[in-house]
Amino acid sequence: LKETQLSDGTKISDLVDAEKGIISPRIFSDQEIYELEQEKIFSKVWNFVAHETEIPNQGDYVTRFVANDPVIVVREAENKINVLLNVCMHKGMHLCRTDAGNTKNFRCIYHGWTYKSDGTLMGAPAAKEAYKGAFDKNQFKLVNARVERYAGLIFATFNQDAPSLDEYLGDMKWYIDLYFNRTPLGMEVLGEPARWIIKANWKSAADNFASDSYHTVMTHYSGVELGQLPPNPMFASFGVQVAMENGHGIGVIGAPPNIPLPEYLALPQEIVEAAQAKLTEPQLEALRRSNFVPGNVFPNFSLLNVMQLPGLEENEYPIPFMSMRVWQPKGPNEFELLSWFLVEKEAPQEFKEASRDNYIRNFGASGMFEADDAEVWSGIARVTKGVTAKKELKLHYIMGLDAEHEPGNWPGPGKKIAQTTYTEQNSRNFFGYWAKLMSEES
Ligand code: FES
Ligand code: FE
Repeated sequence: LKETQLSDGTKISDLVDAEKGIISPRIFSDQEIYELEQEKIFSKVWNFVAHETEIPNQGDYVTRFVANDPVIVVREAENKINVLLNVCMHKGMHLCRTDAGNTKNFRCIYHGWTYKSDGTLMGAPAAKEAYKGAFDKNQFKLVNARVERYAGLIFATFNQDAPSLDEYLGDMKWYIDLYFNRTPLGMEVLGEPARWIIKANWKSAADNFASDSYHTVMTHYSGVELGQLPPNPMFASFGVQVAMENGHGIGVIGAPPNIPLPEYLALPQEIVEAAQAKLTEPQLEALRRSNFVPGNVFPNFSLLNVMQLPGLEENEYPIPFMSMRVWQPKGPNEFELLSWFLVEKEAPQEFKEASRDNYIRNFGASGMFEADDAEVWSGIARVTKGVTAKKELKLHYIMGLDAEHEPGNWPGPGKKIAQTTYTEQNSRNFFGYWAKLMSEES
């Protein structure tokens, strides 16, 4: 295979040496790289588009993206979900222009061509007269993506040659079971995803969720001051970091020695019991040891299941919440963040509300932790696009470089397991897979 070259002759391997953890900041700011990513990564792999509970009824739909192509995610029947390219087959008008809704069919506002929820063209106004019999509706079906689901998560791709979702997710499925689908009824999304623009490169966010616990005490120092985090600089290091095939990564941070944090993420007793009925013994053991869990499904779908201390006031107790997010690239220095709140369907109403409040307070659009991270990612974007930075600078993702694969008594699977979350092993895994896909000549 010939390696991809940028227009100035630079190869991806000149920019990223993932094994050594050396990365040029050019990959965070270059228009050409951004466009290549759409072609070589996002349109090749499985993209997360929606959670099944966002479209529970026949005819429910949401509009999302697969790479930079807009799509409609629609429930055609109880067990049939379609993902359709949101472009009219006549003259290319934006077919469905709302974020979500329920409909029997999609009618284009330009000339009225009308499509069923499987993409079939039902009819066009005055077709017989206007087209004089030269109109074969069957030729104008909307472009359908491949759709596969796992644990309530809907993924899509237009790549006919992509492996199955099962194969693509690999070991990550074990962790998805654990954090997205641990009770018999599963989880539901409450409310619509919050969406906002961050002036940063999407990889800064994906890498942060896949691999970066090291920033916790510094970036989120106001959390320390408010008593939400202990002041120990090693606080976020106690746990495991797991790198998986295809660039996926997760960090499971547990309680530091001598700080008695609750087990099972401080989930309510009902939920722990429901999980005991659903999960395997090794998965339960991993859940028992979980306190703060960030992770990333390559390329840009992250999860965050954390137990957040509200503060050190008396009578306050930790409340966990679960969020998932997509970092949707909109250019080299801009992405749209979609952030959903999820909770177990079985959970008591009171817990659902308290958990959602805690999510909004900490990781909503103006949440105190969320705002900290956004400032860092956009700071990287601001200062790394200058001529000298792009030409001379090398960034160093070298933490834990010499560490071996060390599963210890960690009960879960993974390609490389580190007995600390202060390592950049998952960054190297993420950028390694990124570079592999970017280098392949199609
Ligand atoms: Fe959609 Fe003409 S462009 S009906
Ligand atoms: Fe953070």
